[in-house]
Amino acid sequence: ILSWCSSRHNADLSEATLITTPGVVSGIGAVINALTDENDGILIMEPVYHPFRRMIEVNKRRTVVSELSLNDGYYTLNMKDIEEKIVNEAVKMVIFCTPANPIGRVWTIQELKQVADVCQKHGVILISDEIHMDFVFPQAKHHMLVTLNPAYRDFVITLISASKTFNLADTHTSQLFVYNQTYVEKIEQIYARLGITRQSGFALEAQAAAYRNGHQYVDDVNAVILENKKIVETILEPTKIKITKSEGLYLLWLDFRAYKKDVNDIMDLLLNKAHVWLINGEVFGKSGTGFFRMNIASDPMLVKEACTRMAAVFNNLI
Ligand SMILES: Cc1ncc(COP(=O)(O)O)c(C=O)c1O
Repeated sequence: ILSWCSSRHNADLSEATLITTPGVVSGIGAVINALTDENDGILIMEPVYHPFRRMIEVNKRRTVVSELSLNDGYYTLNMKDIEEKIVNEAVKMVIFCTPANPIGRVWTIQELKQVADVCQKHGVILISDEIHMDFVFPQAKHHMLVTLNPAYRDFVITLISASKTFNLADTHTSQLFVYNQTYVEKIEQIYARLGITRQSGFALEAQAAAYRNGHQYVDDVNAVILENKKIVETILEPTKIKITKSEGLYLLWLDFRAYKKDVNDIMDLLLNKAHVWLINGEVFGKSGTGFFRMNIASDPMLVKEACTRMAAVFNNLI
């Protein structure tokens, strides 16, 4: 894992404590339990991967939302709002998704530092979910947030997994990288209390084999994703469906708002006319209304077929 992070992302995590967790979401749950108390404010930037909110709520913490800004089909962080919310809503923790699901932004060094610096300034713990780090288009680069400044080691907790990169979700093995030893102890206590103290040997072998031998595989997958993205762009071009500008991920965030239709009507058209299932963007937060998330980690022929069907339904729709 360390050599993967080093060779693919130029990141040296060798001094961090590695804690194994069954999943990234359960890792986030463990960190929330270990380092915050009931009713503490935890900030997320929506639209974002919906289990962040679920983990905050099931653990009876307070969800504080900062909406991302969308200009000309491109999402950016609303730093002024983030800082105001951190201060005014007594935020103790931020859960950050980098690269970002569902919007496909690969945050720049400057953006990452803005988030980390504001957390540092206000004594906020920062969870950096980097599970999508290996799906980045050629024009962008993923930077592991904690490596951008040695001072970030005190308050940043990084989560990664082979589950997305190598399609190994069913091995239920992911990693937390933690430098702050007080946090390490508290997080390990949570797993000890749950009796989660050993991993599946099969999972560890699968993961090791993937990280050792999977470089070409991941390059090839990324090439197919890029090809699929071009297919979607070309076929949906004549429609009013807008594809938000992304720099990575195998997920596209499609904007159907130009049709000025109720979300349920769009759903109905997709499902019952085009016979294509996309995820309703509303699950990722209120600002996801009118958007749908499309997974393009698939055979180009299937992607082409899905888009052709969607175009046939939406092309001439007023
Ligand atoms: C941002 C993000 N974090 C975590 C996960 C899931 O992680 P796990 O299955 O390891 O809990 C996903 C899966 O979609 C994801 O997109």
